[in-house]
Amino acid sequence: MPDHPHVRICEVGPRDGLQNEAQFVSTKDKVQLINLLSATGLSYIEAASFVSPKWVPQMADGIDVFARITRERGVVYAALTPNLMGYQDALKAGADEVAIFASASETFSRKNINRSIAESLTLYEQVCKRAHVSGIPVRGYVSCAIACPYEGPVAPDAVRLVAVSLLRLGCREISLGDTIGAATPGDVTALLDVILAEIPAARVAGHFHDTSGRALECIEAGLDRGLRIFDASVGGAGGCPFAPGTKGNVATHEVAQMLEAKGFATGIDRRALQDATNFMAQILGRQT
Ligand code: HMG
Ligand code: MG
Repeated sequence: MPDHPHVRICEVGPRDGLQNEAQFVSTKDKVQLINLLSATGLSYIEAASFVSPKWVPQMADGIDVFARITRERGVVYAALTPNLMGYQDALKAGADEVAIFASASETFSRKNINRSIAESLTLYEQVCKRAHVSGIPVRGYVSCAIACPYEGPVAPDAVRLVAVSLLRLGCREISLGDTIGAATPGDVTALLDVILAEIPAARVAGHFHDTSGRALECIEAGLDRGLRIFDASVGGAGGCPFAPGTKGNVATHEVAQMLEAKGFATGIDRRALQDATNFMAQILGRQT
């Protein structure tokens, strides 16, 4: 049988998919969702965030979620952390990896984490230093990699600067976030032309929200430029509370289906993923 090149899908549904939900999803349901996702063959699940519960009440139970999930061997359970306090909670919870999140837009940075870009990088330097000492890998997001909900289009060079800063802090991989789902495939190609001149494709991921229904095309543009890591959310749930108008992340089953049709291996059992997708629809009370 010919070898199929592998693409890693990073499942962000339990965090990005749920964080914007107004109605609190019980810890039990979050745990069951993660357990169902763990049975799909996904190798990476962003299970929670350790941010201020005043800012994002939906994520207030991260410690309990981590304590109650059944961990599948070979799956990385990651947590989003905005500062040292969040990092310490993630460590307490037993997260295998943490993700820090900077923005390429000054206004979004302030709205999202109440810090300028430069201030956020200073905070993240502290997180990365601690993580390095403890041997915890760090993933870095750059939000507003295409456009900002407040400032409009964002220059690829601004994204490059933040991405390179995060790599220098020690991030093992950079996820480029189209936070508001504004990207066209042409935008993605233009961005990657700038980014990949400095960062190897193996360390770059695409994180697309599907507001305008073009996320799959954007992933194809990423694949054409050599990207092999994409974030997705079960059932296409998602959105950021501080990015008005954002719709869901690209749906995991659609990404898996598209990749497999193109001859890539994802390691995902589509039936098991359907169970997780159905459960996400059930807990949200709607088809996502
Ligand atoms: P702040 O108000 O400036 O925080 O918020 P502070 O450091 O001044 O502290 C104020 C209070 O918050 C204190 O409590 C702290 O203890 C507490 P008080 O004394 O008032 O009782 N606090 C915390 N509590 C729990 N966990 C923490 C923590 N830190 C401080 N980690 C802060 C700054 C960053 C905390 C806040 O702005 C925040 O939590 N923001 C959340 C942002 C967020 O979660 N956004 C969504 C995720 S990003 C995203 O979706 C984009 C992405 O998907 C990629 C893409 O699509 O582009 C990743
Ligand atoms: Mg996102």
